[in-house]
Amino acid sequence: MTTTAANTAANLLTDNPELYEARFPDRERIAGRWAEDCLRRYGAGERVLDIGCGTGRDAAHLHRAGRTVTGADLSDAMLEYARAHHPGPEYVRADLRGFDLGQEPFDAVVCLDSALLYCHTNEELDGFLASCRRCLTPGGLLVAEMRNGAFFLGRTELLDAPTTNGFTWQGTAYRSTTTLYVDRTAQLLRRTRTWTADDGCPPVEQRSAWRLLFPQELRHVLTAHGFEVLALYDGPGPRTEPPWREGDLPAETADADRLHLVARLTHHR
Ligand SMILES: C[S@@+](CC[C@H](N)C(=O)[O-])C[C@H]1O[C@@H](n2cnc3c(N)ncnc32)[C@H](O)[C@@H]1O
Repeated sequence: MTTTAANTAANLLTDNPELYEARFPDRERIAGRWAEDCLRRYGAGERVLDIGCGTGRDAAHLHRAGRTVTGADLSDAMLEYARAHHPGPEYVRADLRGFDLGQEPFDAVVCLDSALLYCHTNEELDGFLASCRRCLTPGGLLVAEMRNGAFFLGRTELLDAPTTNGFTWQGTAYRSTTTLYVDRTAQLLRRTRTWTADDGCPPVEQRSAWRLLFPQELRHVLTAHGFEVLALYDGPGPRTEPPWREGDLPAETADADRLHLVARLTHHR
């Protein structure tokens, strides 16, 4: 394995964008289509920032839909891959917990697949929303899709037992054992994943964490930053079962394991 045991911040999947896309395929571009549907439904202008853009596949979909797109991510590996494999958008390095791209204002910020939940602390969340407010035009939209913290209230099905997975990539067979647990003090969902590979390397342990945000908490912090919540619901969306399809209307609940958010910046300064 290319990662080392000492480097626990490394992530085999997000450090290897090609593998990331292979493990989480979205051949029908449901995430990009869902985001475009939200942007259209709420009348967003053409300039869009996809923050935490990863491999760039959603940013490129929005570009193909006729938008002027900037994709931003903290990972150089992701940005390099995005430029090579999903051209069209401009790709830049930025930290979503506090950014200023120094560009013309955007009409919308898109933040998919729980990237927003890398804001672990309230200060980081404030940093993200203050940055969105700074970079958006008055009336601009924030469209986000993430895990729902409220799902874990009284439900342990994702926490009860480790899950295992196996796949072969570039001739090496990998096996992962994943444990999720709730760190109530930090209000984080923590993940420990141990990788073994048949290439003779010792096992590697990698740790990640996501903020557990609750729908009412999210409404409150958005309002405090000048946003009006237009929609906040659990499905259907790109990562729900069944997944979203064109024409589907949002549910009125925020109970299941994903949250979908559309908010408008109503108080610009
Ligand atoms: C789960 S992936 C989601 C990628 C993409 N949005 C998608 O839906 O396929 C999370 C992405 O967030 C990026 N990321 C993690 N922390 C970040 C931060 N602080 N600022 C910007 N991007 C970050 C990672 O590099 C990774 O590409």
